[in-house]
Amino acid sequence: MELKNDLLLRAARGEKTERTPVWMMRQAGRILAEYRAVREKAGSFIALATTPEMAAEVTLQPVDLLGVDAAIIFSDILVIPEAMGLPYEMIEQRGPVFPATVHTVEDLNKLHVAEPETDLKYVLDAIKLTKAGLENRVPLIGFAGAPFTIFCYMTEGKGSKTFSVAKKHLYADPEFSHLLLQKITDSTIAYLKAQIAAGADLVQIFDSWAGILSPEQYRTFSLPYIEQICNAITEVPVTVFAKGAFFARKEISELRCSVVGLDWNMDPAESRAIIPNKTLQGNLDPCVLYSSYDQIKAEVKKMLNQFGTQRYIANLGHGVYPDTDPDKVRCFIESVKEYSC
Ligand code: CP3
Repeated sequence: MELKNDLLLRAARGEKTERTPVWMMRQAGRILAEYRAVREKAGSFIALATTPEMAAEVTLQPVDLLGVDAAIIFSDILVIPEAMGLPYEMIEQRGPVFPATVHTVEDLNKLHVAEPETDLKYVLDAIKLTKAGLENRVPLIGFAGAPFTIFCYMTEGKGSKTFSVAKKHLYADPEFSHLLLQKITDSTIAYLKAQIAAGADLVQIFDSWAGILSPEQYRTFSLPYIEQICNAITEVPVTVFAKGAFFARKEISELRCSVVGLDWNMDPAESRAIIPNKTLQGNLDPCVLYSSYDQIKAEVKKMLNQFGTQRYIANLGHGVYPDTDPDKVRCFIESVKEYSC
């Protein structure tokens, strides 16, 4: 089926676009009153994420309300550990918590490689409902966490500034670490392939905690697993977003991915020079959206001048903060559309 607006896919493939496509990480979320209403009705984040009709509804909201050029399926990267046998809870104002964590080969032997058609059927159903609701207006992005970032949560059990428990395992028990990373990778490949079969038009890998690793550790414990995923996913374009991994841009440019996501610490021109062969995505500091309309427009203009309008997908450098005014978000999106023609 032909998409009415396929700017994102053409940009991802490196084809010419009339203007720069734009979407926002965490666009389906608390910035929208309409999201908060559905979330209230669901009772909890997990209830919302596991009820396909509701997950599809909040996935469509930013397309209707903000005018973005893509939808991203409403879910979380932590559904993978849950599907492997390690459930999580989402604590209000605090974030995710895993009541049980994984520290030994014995622990990880109790987990299984996720079977998406059964363990993650609710996500696949949400994707199918979303595709129907989109009526081919814009592409749908599927996603998963990078194996290293998932490893962080499975070993640490909760968010952390340093993830020192997770990193301890890398140094103290590399054998255990590689076994767990491989099991997560196998689950993730199956999951992404199932998302694509259900209708995802592009997939993004979030390595949110890449920046806590040294270049050598990143090369040993994260990149090889992302590489396996990129090599396995040949059906649709793949975006690799490794937050904070400015030191790994060259190596990421050598992966079989189509798009490289950048955060705001990474200079656009320098990134173009290091990654000349890929479409780039990013990288406005989400805090710019707290400034005046005029300042947002000026920052968007600057960003477009730095990246250029081609082989480029405009986005923030990380997820939008929940207390951002939706009108400021609309200003960001409209400014990209206006200045990139
Ligand atoms: O719009 C979208 O981007 C799609 C939905 C999405 C969510 N989580 C929904 C969500 C996506 C792509 C994610 C990915 C995710 N989840 C990442 C990687 C991206 C990143 O931000 O680095 C990570 C690290 C997680 C884990 C996670 N989920 C944390 C740390 C938290 C708590 C922090 C917070 O923002 O509250 C979540 C909760 C979460 N995931 C919410 C949403 C909308 C908020 C909970 C709620 O609405 O009740």
